[in-house]
Amino acid sequence: MAHSDLNKIQLLPEHIIDQIKAGEVIERPSTLLKELLENSVDAGSTQIDIELANNGLDLVSVKDNGKGIPFEDLDLAFCRHATSKIENFEDLYKLSTYGFRGEALASIASITKLSCVTNQKGAPEGTIKIHGGEVVTLDQDKDILDVSGTSMYIRDLFYNTPARMKFIQSKTSEKNQLDKIVKAFLLTQPDIKISIKWDDQDKKVFGACGENLKKRVEETIKKNRPLNLVELNSSYDQTNFRVFLSRESSRGNAGKSQFLFVNGRLVQDTAIHKIILNSAYSLWPQGETGNYCAYINIPSERVDVNIHPNKIQVKFFEASKIYSLISSAIKDGLAKQRSVTTNRPTEQNLTMPNIGQDRQSKEVEYRSYDFDSSNSSLQNYFERLDTGTTTTEASQVDEINVINTFKDCSLFSHKEKVYLLNTPKLMGTWLDHLITNGDKTPMPLLVSQPLRPSKEISPSLSKELLAIGFEIDNIGENNYVLRTFPQCLKNFPFKEYLEAFLNQAKSISELASFLIEEQSSWSRQHKKALQDLSLPELIKEEIVVELTREKLLKLL
Ligand SMILES: Nc1ncnc2c1ncn2[C@@H]1O[C@H](COP(=O)(O)OP(=O)(O)OP(=O)(O)O)[C@@H](O)[C@H]1O
Ligand SMILES: [Mg+2]
Repeated sequence: MAHSDLNKIQLLPEHIIDQIKAGEVIERPSTLLKELLENSVDAGSTQIDIELANNGLDLVSVKDNGKGIPFEDLDLAFCRHATSKIENFEDLYKLSTYGFRGEALASIASITKLSCVTNQKGAPEGTIKIHGGEVVTLDQDKDILDVSGTSMYIRDLFYNTPARMKFIQSKTSEKNQLDKIVKAFLLTQPDIKISIKWDDQDKKVFGACGENLKKRVEETIKKNRPLNLVELNSSYDQTNFRVFLSRESSRGNAGKSQFLFVNGRLVQDTAIHKIILNSAYSLWPQGETGNYCAYINIPSERVDVNIHPNKIQVKFFEASKIYSLISSAIKDGLAKQRSVTTNRPTEQNLTMPNIGQDRQSKEVEYRSYDFDSSNSSLQNYFERLDTGTTTTEASQVDEINVINTFKDCSLFSHKEKVYLLNTPKLMGTWLDHLITNGDKTPMPLLVSQPLRPSKEISPSLSKELLAIGFEIDNIGENNYVLRTFPQCLKNFPFKEYLEAFLNQAKSISELASFLIEEQSSWSRQHKKALQDLSLPELIKEEIVVELTREKLLKLL
């Protein structure tokens, strides 16, 4: 083309505009597959069959049993900006479908050889063939069918825009991307039966799992080893976060399935990815990570999915709240699961330091006692205590046996004596001890934790809390976040205490003596408290009472 011709301003022909725009929507085979699958889901399908040849470059075929496209709209469906999913701009903010731009089919049609066979229930099949944006045939059959569905066959991607082919990366990378898209649909559509056939390989079928999402997650991301999935769930302010984490882990990212879905869409968000990996540190050995499938469901008006043509990134209007929800859901959830395991009423060994002056750490026996069983077995227990048969080795004479924990007391034996412990009082005294004697340097939380007090935190209370190391920020209305905690409370369940205190207590002086609800799950903290405080002192304060057999049987 002569240089002078290039200066002439002219409108581009429609088909070239389409091909340019197609590059924004269809970058590679995986985005093509994603668009077709989204359309099938939007059409209400309960079964979808996928077929791929040569990593999608030769063939991408998606057959569904959705509602089908009416024959009179069939050519329109492949025109740019033709959509049945939104009518006005406001609809964008209450989207219940994947598609909304009316661009995907037009883009696909302009850079491939496509054929589509579709019908609605009670109507005959219509077939359209389009090559490079040009309709080649458009026919309707005669036979009325009583089932609906759409089959799309897309061949020779980029055949008329070969320059785009150059951007296609290695075959492995294309295969990985396609695999990611298929998995994303498996993981978000457990109600749909989905089959996938790669080249000449056997078809893999994933049956509909309905409510049992865990089963679908297990089937989708399982490797050769069992994943041992942990499921955690948390909601806050109409936002729900659900995550499945594999216990198995390894170094690096190779071969891992790590998915984040926002309102059913696969999205990429580096910040959330890091928060998930960091928060689950207690599940995986240091330096390792595992698989995760995370689902955020949030009212659609609080998230914007219309910021990228590929709809892969989203923008949260209150991102910090989401980050806090995710981090606390994982950390608290894993901690709770650990405490449930350690409180199981079976015999197990824990590392627990001795109480009193002798603070040497040693392995002691943790024995749980079933208090629901009859008094006679309780008597047996004390008889065995009397004769010393509960401890088999002389070296274990000094051990603490936690016999059982209840809502606001716990029973333990120490040096052949049995004690009753007032746990709320113990926790109050411990907190008092820590705050009076400990280091109040504010320690920043890795991720701020949301606080939901039932009433407003006054500026003066906020100042008092700051003085002892708790920095609390008001982020609008009655929503607060905790940013720091005093260094001395790093082993103390300070968040629960603080929350309970903010809800009910009136002044800072009540914090130490505040009694919280769920004491029983805190036996680990009780032991830490006993380690920090002196037993004779606690007996003097009547926080711990020595129980003789007579006293105990009288109590019962
Ligand atoms: N598998 C299908 N079953 C039924 N109708 C379909 C199917 N695929 C496409 N359609 C119809 O064709 C229209 C155009 O599809 P297209 O994917 O181009 O746009 P969209 O899904 O509305 O928006 P987007 O461009 O964001 O995907 C859809 O709005 C829908 O009415
Ligand atoms: Mg679409």
